[in-house]
Amino acid sequence: MITKNIEDELNKQLNAELYSAYLYLSMSAFLSKKNLNGFSHWMQLQFEEEQAHAKKLFQYILDRGGNIQLEQISKPKTEWLGIIDIFEHVLRHEQAVTSMINDLVDAAMNEKDHATVALMQWYVSEQVEEEASVSDILDQLKLIEGKGSGLFMLDREAKQRILNPIN
Ligand code: FEO
Repeated sequence: MITKNIEDELNKQLNAELYSAYLYLSMSAFLSKKNLNGFSHWMQLQFEEEQAHAKKLFQYILDRGGNIQLEQISKPKTEWLGIIDIFEHVLRHEQAVTSMINDLVDAAMNEKDHATVALMQWYVSEQVEEEASVSDILDQLKLIEGKGSGLFMLDREAKQRILNPIN
């Protein structure tokens, strides 16, 4: 069993992952409208990854005998200034998610809930990868000032992204 406090925290994280999925789907739509179809594809995979993060928490809460509390998902933004603005937003968002995950690890450690600590270590590592890959893309976009033939090439590269299986 998990305590009510950990159950609440895990449900909060579940909602945050679903919001992340929503946000990236909105970004995908915006990028498609801008004819950046590679980045739009990249965001759709991001949308799918976030759903997988949510499902992993969902299953864990149930496995530990907890209750699922699905909340309303906030409406994401629909407009950005451009591709650099989008990736700056992604990076800020992922940093905020990392901070929530760290708080959840702290809460689980305080309660000596080793199983939740172990689960959340997976998310800690995942956040390192996510922040690194988004930072790399952002640096490259800044290098080409988010335009021209460089943008065309980066968009083509983004189209090659494939979904990493979540385990
Ligand atoms: Fe579920 Fe982007 O972290």
